[in-house]
Amino acid sequence: MTAKLIDGKAIAASVRAAVKEGVAAFTARTGVRPGLTVVLVGENPASQVYVRNKGKAATEAGFLSRQIDLPASTSEAELLNLVARLNADDTVHGILVQLPLPKQIDESKVIEAIDPAKDVDGFHPVNAGRLFTGGASFLPCTPYGILTMLDHEKVELKGKHAVVVGRSNIVGKPVAILLLSRHATVTICHSRTVDLPSVVRTGDVVVAAVGRAEMIRGSWIKPGAVVIDVGMNRNAAGKLCGDVAFDEATEVAGLISPVPGGVGPMTIAMLLQNTLEAASRRTAGR
Ligand code: GUN
Repeated sequence: MTAKLIDGKAIAASVRAAVKEGVAAFTARTGVRPGLTVVLVGENPASQVYVRNKGKAATEAGFLSRQIDLPASTSEAELLNLVARLNADDTVHGILVQLPLPKQIDESKVIEAIDPAKDVDGFHPVNAGRLFTGGASFLPCTPYGILTMLDHEKVELKGKHAVVVGRSNIVGKPVAILLLSRHATVTICHSRTVDLPSVVRTGDVVVAAVGRAEMIRGSWIKPGAVVIDVGMNRNAAGKLCGDVAFDEATEVAGLISPVPGGVGPMTIAMLLQNTLEAASRRTAGR
């Protein structure tokens, strides 16, 4: 058996097209272009690429897209000052401070300084808390993208066993809560999990978010399972690869997201969706 591929690029393109229409309608209705400001501190090359791609996608969708570059020597107080100015700026509907930040800056302090109503990353504790309690919030973009992919593929989650490998605040923990909200039975695994292969083998849905190249082998996958690979790694040969050994897993799984072209493109699409949502909430009733 060969698994069906989930085409993240195509699903992301349809989300982006819908957001673009929403942005045009919003602008026509309010006379205001929804704005996204991305802040980059320092010169991390991977962050530079991510930020450039976010800005390009935002511009293409019709947002007022701004990027603020600060030197690596920026102090925590300077960054907090900038965040306060962006919070007060009515032309800014979404704020994204690219992580990681230089070590003299406390990331959680910066995240907590962002107005939760402009926190389009969904990282603020208020939004994380609302995810737990089920209220309206901004969902973190990668988990939101995963859920959107699963919905697009009409994957039934109710009553299924979902195994999430990885417990980060950005992916593992929030995706587990989202799957739970769809009535899956959820197991969260991590580096201390005993006999990880046996646990993964019980998963009808497996979400791999560990950040280790090709760690999850085909022999760990239950036949017919849905496999979502969040990894973005380089293998020994320098090739971009996920956390799942794709060539093996594709022989066993029923549905699988590839790397590249799976979860990655979804993340930016959901950022745009969140930014449009932030603008719409801000001007609701106008
Ligand atoms: N660094 C890597 N991924 C992300 C993300 O989704 N948002 C932010 N702010 N920083 C990141």
